Amino acid sequence: MIKHDVVIVGAGLAGMRAAIEVSKELDVAVLTKVYPSRSHSGAAQGGIAAALGNSESDSWEEHMYDTIKGGDFLNDQDAVEEYVKAAPSIIYELEHMGCVFSRTADGKIAQRSFGGHSKPRACFSADRTGHAILHALHEQLMKQSKSIKIYNEWNMHSLVTEGNRCNGVVVSNVKTGAIEVMQAKAVIFCTGGYGRIFKITTNAFASTADGVMAAFRAGIPVEDAEFVQFHPSGLYRQGILFSEAARGEGGYLLNGKGDRFMEQYAPSRMELAPRDIVSRAEQSEIDEGRGVDGKDFIHLDLRHLGEARIMERLPQIRQLGIDFTSVDCVTDPLPIQPTAHYSMGGIPTNKFSQVVMDAEGTKMEGFFAAGECACVSVHGGNRLGTNSLLDATVFGRRAGMSALEYAKTVDFAKVNEGPEKTKVLKSFEDIYQRDGTESYNQIRNEMKEVMMEKCGVFRDEEKLKACIETIKSLHLRFKKGKVTDKGKLFNTEIYEILELENMLEMAQVIATCALARKESRGGHFRTDHDKRDDENFLKHTMAHGTIDELELKYKPVVITKHKPTERTY
Ligand code: FUM
Repeated sequence: MIKHDVVIVGAGLAGMRAAIEVSKELDVAVLTKVYPSRSHSGAAQGGIAAALGNSESDSWEEHMYDTIKGGDFLNDQDAVEEYVKAAPSIIYELEHMGCVFSRTADGKIAQRSFGGHSKPRACFSADRTGHAILHALHEQLMKQSKSIKIYNEWNMHSLVTEGNRCNGVVVSNVKTGAIEVMQAKAVIFCTGGYGRIFKITTNAFASTADGVMAAFRAGIPVEDAEFVQFHPSGLYRQGILFSEAARGEGGYLLNGKGDRFMEQYAPSRMELAPRDIVSRAEQSEIDEGRGVDGKDFIHLDLRHLGEARIMERLPQIRQLGIDFTSVDCVTDPLPIQPTAHYSMGGIPTNKFSQVVMDAEGTKMEGFFAAGECACVSVHGGNRLGTNSLLDATVFGRRAGMSALEYAKTVDFAKVNEGPEKTKVLKSFEDIYQRDGTESYNQIRNEMKEVMMEKCGVFRDEEKLKACIETIKSLHLRFKKGKVTDKGKLFNTEIYEILELENMLEMAQVIATCALARKESRGGHFRTDHDKRDDENFLKHTMAHGTIDELELKYKPVVITKHKPTERTY
């Protein structure tokens, strides 16, 4: 059995930031199914929010209000307050760790505008901000290599729990196929989101709901699963992110007639309205036949910014356009469409990053979560751009502090290694033994298609019911698949099958929660219930139970400073 004081699953911003905190006093393992610098955090482009006031006067109070209004008042406001107050210290800390931020002419950290933020608040490294922070944190991990052990290319399969205490995880080494129990006094999940469930997505291949589903199988509900964010500027057909920074720098959105259509949808904020509003506007233009050339895309036009500004502020998206569509945004507009980008829901946590199991806040002792896999909930029904890198670093640090505090006060529990390993071994063996005719690739493609079509930007009862039926039938077909690689070494096929199972189950949770929420709020829009309904739905969904018997319960939203009002832009 492998033993560490604290085990962290996931090595993106949240995981690495947590590890730095724990390593100050205890021994910590960081397990990643990829490699730290290939984590999905690296895909975040445009910035990290903090009310530094370097461009215009700003305050944490304004950042707080923008975040809550952007989230359509579903955010837990006590958590939002701590989060925005921590933001400036996080930026200076990252700067001191060596993160290179873009600068103003007088040497301050530059800040740009982003959707839903009333002030220029995004600190950035050109359009590679996630990448810059990821590497700065990775360097810090290397520096602490005596107390931080990184397990690259290891997968996590289940939590080891007894009653309400978490004692470790069951993992496997991709290189050898060996399954191991990793015992710990505390476990932190920083396993990311689940955008790969959708056909068009910005998400890395690794974003497959592994952590959320492992927690669910251990009896922890999924909070607010129905809230999935569609980013307005995904590269047509491929989904690859074209940063909102392009609009923050002054880019236009144009329909097939060449009109800046946001005038009709959000006249005061235009292209810099929150993402849910812009994505719905784009989808409406496309659905009503005003896409470019009558097709299902619209244009992001940056030509008026000029080559010099594009090369200074947006060099990566210029290159992505050239590499993936042969369009150079200096001379031509880029073809874009809404793309699944972020999971507002996830593992329920309190503002100390402790995982909670119910509306009463009962804790799973020794279990913490941070970053996109967690639902604190600071983003409510819709996250503002640049608030995600902030979430990952603020709550990564917080999770590290909480886990450290906890782990110092407890001994290792007694863990019976055999049965824990056997359960996971059996799930591997079940897959190896299958000799059916179904293709896992086909099942994955059909899941992505149906989630995009029927549980995407616009939803209604009929679509959602059909979606749930399709996902259930795909799950049955999943049991009749066939694996072609029966070897143990570097068997990526079996890992993709396990990820597919996580995604199928998560898809069912998302669609079931979306069907039950008969209102429109943030990223969840029901054409058959197109208004927000605070009387009946100002509450968080908590999906409990098993995938065969899902039980939806609800918990109240924490409201401290801002009473819900109509959300207009
Ligand atoms: O558009 C972007 O650069 C994405 C940033 C974010 O999701 O926070």
